[in-house]
Amino acid sequence: MSDFPEKADAVWVHANLATMTGSLPYGRIENGALAVTGSRITWVGKTARLPADLAGRVGRVHDAGRKWITPGLIDCHTHLVYSGNRASEFEQRLEGASYEEIARRGGGIKSTVTATRAADENSLYAQSRPRLLSLLQEGVTTVEIKSGYGLDIDTEMRMLKVARRLGDTLPVTVMPTFLGAHALPPEFDGRSDDYIDFICRDLLPRVTDQGLAVAVDAFCETIGFSRPQTERVFSAARRRGLPVKLHAEQLSDMGGAELAASFGALSADHLEYLSEAGVRALAGAGTVAVLLPGAFYFLGETQKPPVDRLRRHQVPMAVATDCNPGSSPVGSLLAMLNMACVLFRLTPEEALAGVTCHAARALGIHHRAGILAAGKDADFVIWAIEDPAELAYSMGFNPCRQVIRKGRQINYPQMVFNTKGGTP
Ligand code: NIG
Ligand code: FE
Repeated sequence: MSDFPEKADAVWVHANLATMTGSLPYGRIENGALAVTGSRITWVGKTARLPADLAGRVGRVHDAGRKWITPGLIDCHTHLVYSGNRASEFEQRLEGASYEEIARRGGGIKSTVTATRAADENSLYAQSRPRLLSLLQEGVTTVEIKSGYGLDIDTEMRMLKVARRLGDTLPVTVMPTFLGAHALPPEFDGRSDDYIDFICRDLLPRVTDQGLAVAVDAFCETIGFSRPQTERVFSAARRRGLPVKLHAEQLSDMGGAELAASFGALSADHLEYLSEAGVRALAGAGTVAVLLPGAFYFLGETQKPPVDRLRRHQVPMAVATDCNPGSSPVGSLLAMLNMACVLFRLTPEEALAGVTCHAARALGIHHRAGILAAGKDADFVIWAIEDPAELAYSMGFNPCRQVIRKGRQINYPQMVFNTKGGTP
């Protein structure tokens, strides 16, 4: 354990810490303490081990009153920047149409593309901000946001700029992902290979030249893109030095996980139809399996991702909202913990790891986020719970009492009523 720093800005004492590292369940430290200097955690340990001259070395001492502290939550897969909604498709599905049928009829992702192309930057920002705030109020401090509802240069760039602006104006770290290969835009009808050419030659270079994305995703599926097409997008990403991830095996087994693994992908996501070979490939590559119970639930899917196999092969499992208008109109990461347990049989501890340490790995930021330890970002959440399993146990009772992001305390209820926008 590291020494207590000479000076710290603040220390939280009498907290129960779920550090999410070490050999104990949840990495628990009961009656623990945590010190922050600037934007970093500088000490974690037992309250009883704090130095005797603490008062002279620390700016502020907060008594956590035995509440639990976890790392800031990380939602590692969202599409939360978009315009409009798809409630009418929801009604069609309730009358018997499938997600694929609606997509083939020109609805689905394409209808959100039409709405998003028509929305200017301010409108997109205004529509997306409350969705992000819903996540933040439950302790999310890092969120991934994908493009993929533009599919042309202007709109893809606009979506990614809105993602960046959300991160600049709200207390959250945004990890923007380029998802040009999400669906075939109407102007390329019947010419999907030409669209892949356009992505590789024009769209991806424009996005990366402006530093608008830190990763590249694709939708490898019968209603998305084939494996060879996905491979071309991944090769273009590699040439530009960007890591990849993949919507894989959501509706059928396309061998997407094996392809993603062969590119050392950060993550493969959905995975309901993942094969044994796919599991082995992910294990071999150290690729994170991102489970999206919201999409499984909302689409009425019955095929579950092979959680037992993933566990047996020690593939890290993350959990995310997949917040999007078509397959997962979900604004609660805590609800996903519950669904991951009830629907996929994760343990509450696995579910929490899925939105902290394993989600950090899925974004390639595990060197600085996802656990409570000296040297990591001071992103953490104080919860009014008596046991960390409560985070997955209930739905809709938000027990988040305080969020600290990069060392600064945030008051979410005030933000919700602050209609002017901007930093609280
Ligand atoms: O993750 N599967 C592809 N993309 C999204 C759905 C997008 C949409 O339907 O708008 C997903 O499920
Ligand atoms: Fe998705």
